[in-house]
Amino acid sequence: MILVQDLTKEFTDLKRGPVAAVKNVSFEVKPGEIFGLLGPNGAGKTTCLRILSTVLKPTSGQALVAGYDVARFPESVRANIGFMSCNTGIYDRMTAREMVEYYGRLYGIEEERLQVRIDEIFDTLQMNEIRDILGSKMSTGMKQKVSIARTIVHDPPVLIFDEPTSGLDVLVARAVLEAVANLRDAGKCIIFSTHIMREVEKLCDRVAIIHKGEILDTGTVQELIDEYNRPDIEEVFFELIREHKEKLSLT
Ligand SMILES: Nc1ncnc2c1ncn2[C@@H]1O[C@H](COP(=O)(O)OP(=O)(O)OP(=O)(O)O)[C@@H](O)[C@H]1O
Ligand SMILES: [Mg+2]
Repeated sequence: MILVQDLTKEFTDLKRGPVAAVKNVSFEVKPGEIFGLLGPNGAGKTTCLRILSTVLKPTSGQALVAGYDVARFPESVRANIGFMSCNTGIYDRMTAREMVEYYGRLYGIEEERLQVRIDEIFDTLQMNEIRDILGSKMSTGMKQKVSIARTIVHDPPVLIFDEPTSGLDVLVARAVLEAVANLRDAGKCIIFSTHIMREVEKLCDRVAIIHKGEILDTGTVQELIDEYNRPDIEEVFFELIREHKEKLSLT
């Protein structure tokens, strides 16, 4: 469903000169799988997800999403994905329900089907209490839920979440993670970025550890723990980052 090969993105930063935000990244995500991108600030997670969602063009390499090349067929890719960026972009003057309806109409969902679909989503994400609240009066958690609802309204096979729990309290974060797990169980292909080890342990079927634009290793949490002989994924993460920093300072 998602196939990424040697993906590279360079930015030209006025102050820093050329910045390789993503370097020769390769991975694959299957339907019914949650793939995690685990990395510290500035690792390249958002850049990678923005390329997959066709917001950015890669400098080189290839990414196929739902069978379409992101650079050549961006419209077909967009029809097959739901992308939730960290910036929720909620409109102040629309209610929760109106916002999700608005997105559903943008995707051209026929009105009767749209209403049924929205009822379904508001039930599963437990959003019925907030349906008539205006964007300007929503808490961060409420906005996050609306953002998920509109990401999935057109029922796409591929879902891309960029740190979906950032800024949420434990209760809402838990509800969000449950929603993501349910989408996986419904057969969706999911990629999600985080810097929270617990989320990876609880949710991800496989994870890639990313640092300074490079994927350092990929596997299930258990495979990585065994490979590096560490007690948990956090220790694996620190070990890999330490090794990588050492390697970069030598070159
Ligand atoms: N438009 C841009 N112009 C120049 N540099 C950029 C641009 N966007 C991202 N970068 C750089 O690319 C690198 C990766 O950034 P990115 O936002 O992908 O990281 P991230 O892993 O999502 O980090 P965070 O956890 O902080 O969200 C950083 O060094 C960042 O400064
Ligand atoms: Mg980011």
